Amino acid sequence: MLTLGLETSCDETSASLTDGRRVLANIVSSSVHLHKRYGGVVPEIASRFHVEYIIEVIAKALENPHKTLKDVKLVAVTNGPGLVGALLSGISVAKALGYSLKRPMIGVNHILAHLYSSFLSEGPTPAFPFVGLVVSGGHTTLFYCKAIGSERLLGSTQDDAVGEAYDKVAKILGLGYPGGPVIDRLAKKGTRNAAISFPRSYLGKDSLDFSFSGIQTAVLYHVRKRDRRPETIDRKETADICYAFQEAALDALVEKVRRACEVTGARRVVIGGGVAANSRLRDKMRELAAFSSMKIYFPELKYCMDNAAMIGYLGEVLYKKGKRSDLYLSAEPNLGVLNVK
Ligand code: KG4
Ligand code: ZN
Repeated sequence: MLTLGLETSCDETSASLTDGRRVLANIVSSSVHLHKRYGGVVPEIASRFHVEYIIEVIAKALENPHKTLKDVKLVAVTNGPGLVGALLSGISVAKALGYSLKRPMIGVNHILAHLYSSFLSEGPTPAFPFVGLVVSGGHTTLFYCKAIGSERLLGSTQDDAVGEAYDKVAKILGLGYPGGPVIDRLAKKGTRNAAISFPRSYLGKDSLDFSFSGIQTAVLYHVRKRDRRPETIDRKETADICYAFQEAALDALVEKVRRACEVTGARRVVIGGGVAANSRLRDKMRELAAFSSMKIYFPELKYCMDNAAMIGYLGEVLYKKGKRSDLYLSAEPNLGVLNVK
């Protein structure tokens, strides 16, 4: 069943053609270069970029597999959470296509799409049940998943998402936007430094929630100490700060996953979202898995960041389970996972 996926929730304009787990095309055009000078995503710039490029991106997705819009059997589109204007641009295109092609259309939850993005990878899919962790610029959410469409919320962040913490710390250190990839790279050059340590926030011994605001404040105070500006900090110290920040942030993720497995009895862990691309997180989670005889699944790198293939895949699975949207589908910027059982 050929599904056209559309993703426009933030700063990536993406269209895909998928057939079950098979990805025939996954085109991503990012407006990140336009946001860099502002140190974060500017919603209006993101929306304008989607409106300008979405048709070109869809045309590119059709090009290589030599398909036409008439071959499409289902249109799947992100309808939340995300930036409202950005979401509306993709939803409007999805509606126009569904209506004119006389094809069904389905709105897809972006967080759940990240959760199942490792199903797109070649090789065996993770067996249910498992503990799922979505770590991105907007979300840090822990689930217990019994099947697609049957997820239980275990915990989420009480303040910032972990990707947001990477972005803010990078801004404090003058490293640009987005912060995740650059901190990942610099942290490899850093080492444990007795003068630099940041708090790990575990929120009580039974909590499955997260908090990352304390680490960010600690980094800010460290940089402000002795009245220094980021540009006066030498490269070795910047690398050591990145190292210490990353260790503190990731230890909290690993510990909550460990607790979630203990509480639910799950033996498998599935991770998704932009921060799932992080090399140190992958190492730490693999260590946990080896130590506890668990299996761990990560998406391929190209499916970690926002992409339409994950939307198309989940949309098709849900459609086959009987879910569909009508032409009143609208953007749900705060669409959470609280309705998830
Ligand atoms: O999933 P995503 O593309 O968008 C959202 O749904 O938010 O995630 C983007 C986030 C950004 O905060 C970015 O800094 C972070 O993912 N990120 C990383 C890495 N690559 C991207 N964080 C840590 N390490 C990375 N290698
Ligand atoms: Zn995302």
